[in-house]
Amino acid sequence: MTAPRLATRLHGIRPTIFTEMSALATRTGSVNLGQGFPDQDGPPQVIAEAMRALEHGRNQYAPGPGVPELRQAIARHQQRHYGLELDPDREVVVTTGCTEAVAAALLGLVDPGDEVVVLEPYYDSYVAMIQMAGGVRRPVTLRAPDFRLDLEALRRAVTPATRLVLLNSPHNPTGTVLTRAELQGVADLAIEHDLVVITDEVYEHLTFDGSEHVPIATLPGMFERTLTLSSAGKSYSFTGWKVGWATGPAELVGAVLAAKQWLTFTSGSPLQPAVALALDEQAGFPRELARDLQGRRDLLLAGLAEAGITAFAPQGTYFASASVRELGWTDGMSFCLALPDRAGVVAIPSQVFYDDPADPAGGRHLVRFAFCKTREVIEDGVTRLAQADLSA
Ligand SMILES: Cc1ncc(COP(=O)(O)O)c(C=O)c1O
Repeated sequence: MTAPRLATRLHGIRPTIFTEMSALATRTGSVNLGQGFPDQDGPPQVIAEAMRALEHGRNQYAPGPGVPELRQAIARHQQRHYGLELDPDREVVVTTGCTEAVAAALLGLVDPGDEVVVLEPYYDSYVAMIQMAGGVRRPVTLRAPDFRLDLEALRRAVTPATRLVLLNSPHNPTGTVLTRAELQGVADLAIEHDLVVITDEVYEHLTFDGSEHVPIATLPGMFERTLTLSSAGKSYSFTGWKVGWATGPAELVGAVLAAKQWLTFTSGSPLQPAVALALDEQAGFPRELARDLQGRRDLLLAGLAEAGITAFAPQGTYFASASVRELGWTDGMSFCLALPDRAGVVAIPSQVFYDDPADPAGGRHLVRFAFCKTREVIEDGVTRLAQADLSA
């Protein structure tokens, strides 16, 4: 046999940073403030429903678009929170987490050479999937310290080859929640250039200090050109269940389904009815989680300040970005690789979420800390940081 050869569609895509940094945390016994998974599970009633489903014959293939009760619950969720009226049979599809929704949306809508405007720093699966779909990424950078969307830069990123805009709000890793005015700017551009908008809203309920999450699909003229993606992972602290969804007009949802049926066809049969129950009967859980997370965010920010690390308060998600420049580091990757030895803590270097990791005006000096951990874990992490020598 000749040596196996990686397909060119995967060339240059680095392995996901989360695997690398979580392995580093395990190997060094460090406090993992890197990867974004909570260390407390979601509502026990939802787990009980999943167990009931396992015991009562929900163990074979679910229908490709998802079980009807979950599609109906997703439609009710979009109605209740945002006033969006969806046909659960044609305008909702259940996916294997938001990750598969992103993959299927890009595979279903992007032709080779199509340009995709995407907020940078980006969630790393976007880069991989745009490339696998043959698309060309056009990043628009959210810059520290306030990480706002520069609408002029967005306008400059659009060319005759632009096919779609890939948004993420609340935004990982910066914590930016796009304002209605910023979203209106995106909407104006999308309508003017006849673009599709894919919007990843997995952190839709995790906002702080009264910041309002506005789905761009609710703006005038936008429903018909918007695919809205979300998942139960973040809202209900079940990241391992990988139950997500895409909603929008039938034509766009159909494009997701057209690709998705050849990726997994279907997944999580016994988990889908449990997520339906979560959306209908545990509707208050995500807001409670957000309230609690706000306290944990403040604990992390105060602890980082104590350790001499300048962090930027996020308006949503469960991540805080911080600069390591003030500690004398120019490069977040070197800082994160040194951190387990120096302090017994793991964080994520944000520069891997930028096209140009070396750009000092981008994310070279930024690192990301997760605060979806228990208060004890966060306290342990920041105490370790405060006691360590973190200078370059
Ligand atoms: C912005 C964003 N989108 C999607 C995902 C993945 O969602 P899921 O676990 O539902 O596939 C994550 C997880 O960290 C994320 O941060």
